[in-house]
Amino acid sequence: MCLAEPRGLKLDTSRSKCYFHVCCMGHIFILFVVSLANAAADRYSLLQLPSFKRPGVADANASQWASWCWDGLERLHDREIFLIHIPKVAGCSIVGDLSKLVGRDKIWTGQVCWDRSTQAKFEKTVLMLRRPNDHLLSIYHQCLQPGPLELHHRQKLGVAQGQPGFTLPDFATWVKSWKQDAPKQFYTQAYLQERYHCSDPRNPTSRQLTCADETDHPVNIHVQKPMEILHSASVIGLVEAYHESICLFAWKLRNFLPSHCNCEDVAAWEAFVPLHITHKHTYSDTVDDYNASVQKDIEGLTHVDRKVYQAGLARFFQEMDELEKTLRVKVLCDQQRQKLLNTSQY
Ligand SMILES: *[C@@H]1O[C@H](CO)[C@@H](O)[C@H](O)[C@H]1NC(C)=O
Ligand SMILES: *[C@@H]1O[C@H](CO)[C@@H](O)[C@H](O)[C@H]1NC(C)=O
Ligand SMILES: *[C@@H]1O[C@H](CO)[C@@H](O)[C@H](O)[C@H]1NC(C)=O
Repeated sequence: MCLAEPRGLKLDTSRSKCYFHVCCMGHIFILFVVSLANAAADRYSLLQLPSFKRPGVADANASQWASWCWDGLERLHDREIFLIHIPKVAGCSIVGDLSKLVGRDKIWTGQVCWDRSTQAKFEKTVLMLRRPNDHLLSIYHQCLQPGPLELHHRQKLGVAQGQPGFTLPDFATWVKSWKQDAPKQFYTQAYLQERYHCSDPRNPTSRQLTCADETDHPVNIHVQKPMEILHSASVIGLVEAYHESICLFAWKLRNFLPSHCNCEDVAAWEAFVPLHITHKHTYSDTVDDYNASVQKDIEGLTHVDRKVYQAGLARFFQEMDELEKTLRVKVLCDQQRQKLLNTSQY
């Protein structure tokens, strides 16, 4: 994937109107409700947000996005926050929404091994997880419908859809083939040269958390290291609870709770419009459309990632409970909690 330098793309925060700001004084938490409608100066001094201007990220074109979403590996350097970009785990959207909280210049992000977080000075580390089944389907569709930059690379290699080198079968065949007849080594990156010119679907999250460098070809993925990372990260979020994750990030990284984080106040909650960066890539099937034998193949390909996801869900619930108890605000409403539990079962 293309690694490029940010080119100063600006974000629009005009939607944010009001924040709960929480100051910690010893063990006493004082809750302030600060009305910040149009009071940009107050907002910035209070939260130290940089002064973002238009154009909003949502309007950016693909090459602007590329430079926004990924910091170049050759430019790995000290920043406050290390955010790993696991492909198809809402990477670009999170860069955007997290930047609204902390400023893009506080974040270093890339499609790299987690180990990079030890190679420069980072105060905090952020990890997003996604339900493994959905993650696999999304990876597949990314291969089928690559973004403009990736499409360009594919066309040069003659492996884009419609070209003689295009070999990607349907989703069910793709997972079956990887399940039944997989190479011994795991592919880390450079997948355009590899099987079906598509990513290796075996435990993609754990693979990226455990690799030593991006050209690594390990023969085993053990669950222990991703579990350690899961517990050592400063904060973790879930794609399935994207909105709630942003609230947890605000709390953990900046010690405040945006007003759109009270899930019992529908109007306030809906005032938050999460970025949903699809790179113009959409699809209509869901992983649950596939039959039991396909599900079994997916399970086999993601057994480590599933354990990591389950543990991530447990950590997420626990931290949500702490947040809610401390601030006496409900962020993860019961229906959403139940849905997360339901969908993580299979
Ligand atoms: C994207 O937008 C930038 C800034 O407006 C422009 O310079 C660039 O040519 C655009 N790129 C594409 C591929 O449209
Ligand atoms: C499940 O779906 C796959 C692909 O769509 C198909 O090849 C297979 O025969 C189906 N298996 C069963 C048991 O229906
Ligand atoms: C969770 O699953 C149960 C049992 O299948 C179902 O009755 C319930 O509606 C589901 N809840 C949500 C929020 O999806």
